[in-house]
Amino acid sequence: MSEQRVALVTGSSSGIGAAVARRLAANGIRVVVNSARSRAAGEALAAELPGALYLQGDVADPADAQRLVAQAVEHYGRLDILVNNAGTTRFIPLDDLAAADAQAWREIFDVNVIGTWQLTTAAVPHLRASGAGCVVNISSVSAIRAMGSSVPYAVSKAAVNHMTRLLASQLGPEIRVNAVAPGLVDTPWYAEADEVWESSRDWITAHTPLRRVGTPEDVADATLHLVDAGYTTGDVLTVDGGRHLV
Ligand SMILES: NC(=O)c1ccc[n+]([C@@H]2O[C@H](COP(=O)([O-])OP(=O)(O)OC[C@H]3O[C@@H](n4cnc5c(N)ncnc54)[C@H](OP(=O)(O)O)[C@@H]3O)[C@@H](O)[C@H]2O)c1
Repeated sequence: MSEQRVALVTGSSSGIGAAVARRLAANGIRVVVNSARSRAAGEALAAELPGALYLQGDVADPADAQRLVAQAVEHYGRLDILVNNAGTTRFIPLDDLAAADAQAWREIFDVNVIGTWQLTTAAVPHLRASGAGCVVNISSVSAIRAMGSSVPYAVSKAAVNHMTRLLASQLGPEIRVNAVAPGLVDTPWYAEADEVWESSRDWITAHTPLRRVGTPEDVADATLHLVDAGYTTGDVLTVDGGRHLV
């Protein structure tokens, strides 16, 4: 069996997930690139990265979640790292209570919370077998501060943070579980919300300690740090240029 570690990065055809996939690959880790819909972009990224594999699958779908992990292990014979990055939201002003209806809550929780849970539970036996298994969940600063693209989104990421702590308390010593909580990051996430993006970017550039929005590479740096931080578990690492301070 190859000594090279294997990582499954969900939602890695774009934005933060793609930057994480690139960073892990640059550090000698073989990467499974995944997306639910954007197959061409995922395949193109996997073709760029040495030893990478693309797998299409929706993390919210229970059968897909099992299959993604099974196919990754079938292909490489091991799984060492799971990055739960796939996420979704709806852009709903926090004071528009009617718009945050049950359907919005279900759609967001299905991907962000249940998807994270399904991938993690499917991966646990393989991460345990790795001997140094590791999960990094991509959360959000909206889990920590009263802000974000919608109430269901922010609450879903708060759930991810607490899931991180609960699983970390149970899965050691073989598996560490941590999260990264980014602030505003320049990705296609805001493609359908130009006004939200522009006003948030301007406010952050004017008011936060580091005076800029984040890049996908900032989040990739933090993710790689947690992948290699052998004595850290149950932590949520904020990567927001100090947004949570103001
Ligand atoms: N951008 C920010 O400001 C920001 C801030 C804090 C946290 N985050 C978090 O960072 C993560 C990535 O966001 P991003 O900004 O990089 O967004 P993005 O550029 O829109 O990328 C999202 C990725 O997730 C995939 N995806 C969505 N739903 C999926 C599903 N059900 N199953 C599998 N893959 C799925 C998308 O591909 P398909 O749509 O083709 O499936 C795409 O590859 C999310 O969890 C988000 O909550 C982002």
